[in-house]
Amino acid sequence: MKDNTHIVTIDRHIIDQERLHPEATGAFSNLLTDMALAAKIVSREVNMAGLADILGRVGRTNIQGEVVQKLDVFAQEAIYRAMDHTGHLCCMVSEEHEDFIPIPEKFPAGPYVLVFDPLDGSSNIDVNVSIGTIFSIYRKVTDNERGSVEDCLQAGREQLAAGYVVYGSSTMLVYTTGSGVHGFTLDPSIGEFILSHPDIQIPEPPNRYYSVNEAYYSRWGKGQQRFVDHLKGLGDGPDPGFSSRYIGSLVSDFHRTLLKGGIFMYPADTKSPSGKLRLLYEASPLAWIAEEAGGRASSGSRDILDIVPEELHQRTPLYIGSRALVDQAEEYLAKGE
Ligand code: AHG
Ligand code: MN
Ligand code: MN
Repeated sequence: MKDNTHIVTIDRHIIDQERLHPEATGAFSNLLTDMALAAKIVSREVNMAGLADILGRVGRTNIQGEVVQKLDVFAQEAIYRAMDHTGHLCCMVSEEHEDFIPIPEKFPAGPYVLVFDPLDGSSNIDVNVSIGTIFSIYRKVTDNERGSVEDCLQAGREQLAAGYVVYGSSTMLVYTTGSGVHGFTLDPSIGEFILSHPDIQIPEPPNRYYSVNEAYYSRWGKGQQRFVDHLKGLGDGPDPGFSSRYIGSLVSDFHRTLLKGGIFMYPADTKSPSGKLRLLYEASPLAWIAEEAGGRASSGSRDILDIVPEELHQRTPLYIGSRALVDQAEEYLAKGE
């Protein structure tokens, strides 16, 4: 039974988490609090999107070659403006910017790096389907006061914090700093994220959900095809009794996998030999959250968290969710055929 007698806001929770780290200076906590503020600002705009002139396209494509939605730009600006002047960051990386984003000279720089996908699931914005934001914080590794690409190209194991916001039937912020995964639901009437899902663990046995875009079946390798055939009961042995869910917003598909169990896959295929999802600001943050919640995340052959990115927008195949299912996916891919 959830203890509803006391309300824990995200700010309170961040301070309590800070107490677990005696060496903490509070700067890191301020960063998380600033990110929560940015999430509230984006949430307000997302929930008004149908009314304000915020829907639709900006009329250009981003460096990923994807059509940029107005909300992509709004979310990018909202996060940038909430974080650029805090004095905690030396630089940022965003899906929406080709190069790393320096902190303006007029503001002080700090020891942390923020990487983020300001709006994930953009193709779903205009049809009122859940979308999200993904973020992750690293400590810089060079002596460059104003940061460098080298400070950004770190393996997921080096993360200090990872989180996402899902703008769905309610707005939730889920984050980890290495002491479990905690979910907060925004109460718009008081403008506070309230702890609603403490210590999230992927349920065992997992719900029988698998999540993949099956339209690409013909582009997959044999191992991937055989694994999904198995999940559909088309392989050897009895039907394993799975159901399929695919929202097309990574954050939403992952959030369901985190709370219910199962596996989300975005495989490599002949059209996207490294998959579509980006390592730095999509796969790595969610991989750490999955591991902290008792699950796993793999590229299909190795842990996502062990991969050191060679460039900011590097893509990776992604298998994430219940540990046993991710292990099984790796076995099918290794067998290939
Ligand atoms: P983004 O909107 O940040 O570019 O991310 C979209 C991604 C991800 O959210 C989702 O899992 C995937 O695109 C869906 O891709 P397909 O349409 O190829 O299935
Ligand atoms: Mn994305
Ligand atoms: Mn995006």
